[in-house]
Amino acid sequence: MQTILITGGAGFIGSAVVRQFINETQCKVVNVDKLTYAGNLQSLASVSDNPRYVFEQVDICDAAEVARVLREHQPDAVMHLAAESHVDRSISGPADFIQTNIVGTYTLLEATRSYWSGLDAPRRAAFRFHHISTDEVYGSLGESGFFTEETAYEPNSPYSASKASSDHLVRAWHHTYGMPVVTTNCSNNYGPYHFPEKLIPLVILNAVNGKPLPIYGKGDNIRDWLYVDDHARALRLVLEKGKLGETYNIGGWNEKTNLEVVQSICAILDELHPQGAPHNKLITYVQDRPGHDRRYAIDASKIAKDLDWKPQETFETGLRKTVEWYLANTGWVHGVTSGDYQHWVEKNYANRSGA
Ligand code: NAD
Ligand code: DAU
Repeated sequence: MQTILITGGAGFIGSAVVRQFINETQCKVVNVDKLTYAGNLQSLASVSDNPRYVFEQVDICDAAEVARVLREHQPDAVMHLAAESHVDRSISGPADFIQTNIVGTYTLLEATRSYWSGLDAPRRAAFRFHHISTDEVYGSLGESGFFTEETAYEPNSPYSASKASSDHLVRAWHHTYGMPVVTTNCSNNYGPYHFPEKLIPLVILNAVNGKPLPIYGKGDNIRDWLYVDDHARALRLVLEKGKLGETYNIGGWNEKTNLEVVQSICAILDELHPQGAPHNKLITYVQDRPGHDRRYAIDASKIAKDLDWKPQETFETGLRKTVEWYLANTGWVHGVTSGDYQHWVEKNYANRSGA
């Protein structure tokens, strides 16, 4: 049985990856997460009793603890998702982004290198370090063109600069020390369990509650959307079949303006939650994000051609599933919006582990 160590497994994308590994494979998963405001063990309630799932509340910046977890659990691969992930927070307070995304990645790389060097030859040869990153490292596109794996890095926000730094560290650890790494750069994810500071869950929940739907600037910035479970499937494929030292861009060929996204959510809600319709009357134009990147669009042909990956959801099917999920999962939503999810961890998790 393979053991996969996943950092950031209590976050939005990490929890989708953990659920897939537990539900669709026989792998053991070690979830290493500090549980910042973005980490939520309620997102893992459906798998947390599985004997193949282990949780370690550890900060990736803590070298001794990361080394202990590697030693104790002896993983065959590391998938690194832990990060500070919200662009607006990086603008108002970049320090945590530098610490976790850069220092944390460095600390994890060094601890993993030491662990990997000590493995026997077959396990060392089979080991993988998979770094999960973002298309924001490439900067901003004009009206045409796509981000390919060869696009030069031009990060514009403190968040994207910190992720670009982490990508460079991972690349250097491969070239200098021969660490067996693969890196993926993905476009905007959406789907269940998404923290409602990000556009799509924020708009769904505000609309249901009759609150303003804030649109930065004119709403004509473009993002390229991918359903989170499609991203998780792509990550598992790259881990299994990706070529060492290579980068794979992941995206769904789903470019939309922010206004189109918000209008689509409102139209679905008008049908599924007619109280308050038309919901688009709540749209409110607000001050633009400083340095707001104009357009992101991923050329995902390399992963399609080399690894035979394609997304299962269209934006229409994925967005409808997402809205339905937020309407049905009021317990999860209440936990997050009330802050209860953090107390839930103290009450339930500490007791269960006997701590
Ligand atoms: P998220 O903010 O939902 O989750 C991040 C997780 O990391 C949380 O569980 C948090 O507790 C944990 N974490 C933060 N700091 C930590 C630390 N110091 N030590 C251990 N754990 C820590 O983020 P997400 O949206 O799930 O993104 C996951 C990864 O994917 C990130 O690396 C992000 O850059 C990348 N990514 C995200 C998107 C997207 O659209 N959300 C797209 C492309 C790439
Ligand atoms: O492209 C991948 C990136 O996508 C990831 O690396 C990031 O971790 C993830 O947060 C996401 O970044 P964005 O900044 O694109 O996502 P966000 O949901 O914050 O914003 C999406 C777009 O919507 C962006 O153009 C800003 C706009 N926006 C956002 C919010 C929160 C609004 O107009 N109003 C809002 O209230």
